[in-house]
Amino acid sequence: PPSSRVSLTVNGTRRTVTVDNRTSLLDLLREHLGLTGSKKGCNAGACGACTVLVDGRRVNACLTLAVRLEGTEVTTIEGLAEGDQLHPLQQAFIEQDAFQCGYCTPGQILSGVGCIQEGHTGSPEEIREWMSGNICRCGCYVKIVRAVEQTAG
Ligand code: FES
Repeated sequence: PPSSRVSLTVNGTRRTVTVDNRTSLLDLLREHLGLTGSKKGCNAGACGACTVLVDGRRVNACLTLAVRLEGTEVTTIEGLAEGDQLHPLQQAFIEQDAFQCGYCTPGQILSGVGCIQEGHTGSPEEIREWMSGNICRCGCYVKIVRAVEQTAG
């Protein structure tokens, strides 16, 4: 199958990889770069477990073709902490106990960071709406919204 070379920045590090043109960003991260923090739930754009930021905007990595990301900056859960200092939203998830199994958490946190950066945090209802692409089967929504609210200030 046709393949292409793509250069992009992942969590601050420039990476150049050759991938089958059909490769999703999620498979690029997990299979080619060994970054398994982004989760594959549905692989069809329905659950949000794969949410990452591309140039600061939220995307479902399972629906994004890797070869279209030439020159972009991708942020995953592995890139949020600064050294051993957790990102404030990661810290808030711990303080609010905003997970049970944790499978959706990386996607929830990246989506929450996007939500805060986009300014969609005026009320719990607004947060719920703008986080509605991220499913939590343990039902931690109330605490997830609290963690986003706490971080947005
Ligand atoms: Fe991408 Fe479910 S794995 S939305």
